[in-house]
Amino acid sequence: MPGLSEMSLRDAIYGLRATRIFHDKPVAPQVLDEVLEASTMACSSGNTQPWEFVVVRDPETKRRIQIEMLDAFSTIDQERAQSPEQLVDGAGRPVTGRAAVDHLDKVPVIVVVCWNPERGIRMKGEYAENPDGTLRETREIPGGRGVSLFQACQNMMLAARAHGLCSLFTTFFFLKRERIKEILGIPPQIFMECAIFLGHGDEKLGKPKRLPVSQVSHADRWGTPYRLHAETAGGDA
Ligand SMILES: Cc1cc2nc3c(=O)[nH]c(=O)nc-3n(C[C@H](O)[C@H](O)[C@H](O)COP(=O)(O)O)c2cc1C
Repeated sequence: MPGLSEMSLRDAIYGLRATRIFHDKPVAPQVLDEVLEASTMACSSGNTQPWEFVVVRDPETKRRIQIEMLDAFSTIDQERAQSPEQLVDGAGRPVTGRAAVDHLDKVPVIVVVCWNPERGIRMKGEYAENPDGTLRETREIPGGRGVSLFQACQNMMLAARAHGLCSLFTTFFFLKRERIKEILGIPPQIFMECAIFLGHGDEKLGKPKRLPVSQVSHADRWGTPYRLHAETAGGDA
């Protein structure tokens, strides 16, 4: 199994795919420790490090989460704005998360990523308490609360890949947020934002399909095409 230093950053980034079907083979504890530590090396707004990770490995807990998610997915397909045909990746594989929910009990590790307002709050009175103990935002945070968590998540997924593991970034637990928070004992004032599935992949995935840089970039000013160096250098590199 490759270690963190044995896979090039290029291979880690360019080969990262969203895996939704996993073997139930466990993740080695020392690998999991390294992966979690890599995520804590991420940058965060004001170095507040507002993340909290609930590392779920217990089979019964996973089954309880799966029951909630299967219930959520029993209606979600009818409510989506996009048709199932639109929600596919470059290989025609569905990306709705349905497969992930169907196989959720087999995922060896689910890291539920939460935002702790005690560390994340930057302004006085940014949150107000609801009668039930949950907090509500009173000010818009640029980029949203998740903005200081997503770098940690990406580090986690890249570190996992460098260790030969596959991963899935998910936000779909929000569909059953209160129930899943209850199952995991997450206090009301803590925001559950996303979850990363980690383990050994059990589906064959090719290279990721992405839009070319030139299609999504502008040079100096919106609307001016950004040209790749290789195109402008006329092949004399
Ligand atoms: C903000 C965000 C939310 C996502 N939420 C989910 C999700 O809830 N369920 C899921 O199965 N995949 C989810 N994904 C994974 C995306 O579907 C996946 O990254 C995308 O289809 C590209 O997949 P690929 O890297 O295999 O090409 C999410 C990704 C992002 C960045």
